[in-house]
Amino acid sequence: MKIAIFEAEDWEEQACASLEGRHAVRCTRAALSGATVGDFADAEVVSPFITSRLDADVIDQLPALRLIATRSAGYDHIDLSACRRRGIAISNVPDYGDATVAEHAFALLLALARNIVDSVEQTRRGGFSMARVRGFELRDKVLAVIGTGRIGRRAIEIGNGFGMRVLAYDRQEDAEAAARLNFEYGGLHAVLARADVVTLHVPSSPSTIGLIGEPEFGAMKDGVILINTARGNVVDTEALVRALAMGKVRAAGLDVLPHEPLIREEAEIFRRQTPLAASDLQGLVANHVLLRFPNVLVTPHNAYNTDAALRRIIATTLANIEAFAEGRPANIVTAG
Ligand code: NAI
Repeated sequence: MKIAIFEAEDWEEQACASLEGRHAVRCTRAALSGATVGDFADAEVVSPFITSRLDADVIDQLPALRLIATRSAGYDHIDLSACRRRGIAISNVPDYGDATVAEHAFALLLALARNIVDSVEQTRRGGFSMARVRGFELRDKVLAVIGTGRIGRRAIEIGNGFGMRVLAYDRQEDAEAAARLNFEYGGLHAVLARADVVTLHVPSSPSTIGLIGEPEFGAMKDGVILINTARGNVVDTEALVRALAMGKVRAAGLDVLPHEPLIREEAEIFRRQTPLAASDLQGLVANHVLLRFPNVLVTPHNAYNTDAALRRIIATTLANIEAFAEGRPANIVTAG
């Protein structure tokens, strides 16, 4: 098969050499997008990472495409209906980084709880004032975990390790997990109403876009902490900005933002042939406001980024491609 691997670092390119002989493999550092797809028009398999955008227009320009082997758990960067129409299979890496991502959620939470960023900046400038960087304990605080899949369950274990009281919301409750991991399920608003800290672990899908919006912030206690390592569009950014401005949300730790590709490549906005939609512009402005709040920490969609997780991602992706080539597809995405 003709395979194109996008967003590949040198070590990933070396790992992909194991496919050669049986397949024709091309690796590129570039993301797959409307700007780069032309060079890969004969690809039967593409393997993107999270910066690539596989919208219908890009997929249309890949007439030989049979498999998208995304090197991620999430697949919201791929137009699922365009793939369905063309019979293109999608494989993902569902289980590579529950600990990696949950630990990042707690890295954000601890950094907020103990004002780590301010503390380090202050001491670098020679300042040793304690008052500005006073923090709070996690022990005995109520943690709300939204989404109790792989990453959410690991977040629950970590929360329990800190002596937090854990509540959870999921559309599919798992009573066995609740008993084993020591947490209590409730309805979304009921759980939010009792939480000191809310951490999000649902995928981005039509049912979760804007899951945390104005009514949900309204249900939360004043001074709540929000952590989002799931996907940016699970939170209504404008509602979050208002909640921060009103002090409803005391602080937020965000690894993901909506409109991430636009933020990453802002210069692209000025090179575009078509103007940005008003909603994109509004979203960009809201992101910029968020980035300026002193009580908001934003990391660059980095929660997956540990050596161990990346090694698991590439190993599973190569196995997914080989399995597809041998007619026994693995890790095929079926959900909409
Ligand atoms: P998972 O599939 O194991 O768990 C997701 C959970 O969300 C499931 O229990 C499901 O029932 C629940 N859920 C789905 N829709 C829901 C809804 N509308 N309402 C309530 N619950 C709902 O997924 P996993 O592995 O825990 O990952 C979660 C998400 O984390 C991924 O989809 C991805 O978007 C994000 N992620 C972020 C990374 C990062 O680097 N920031 C890295 C890896 C994943």
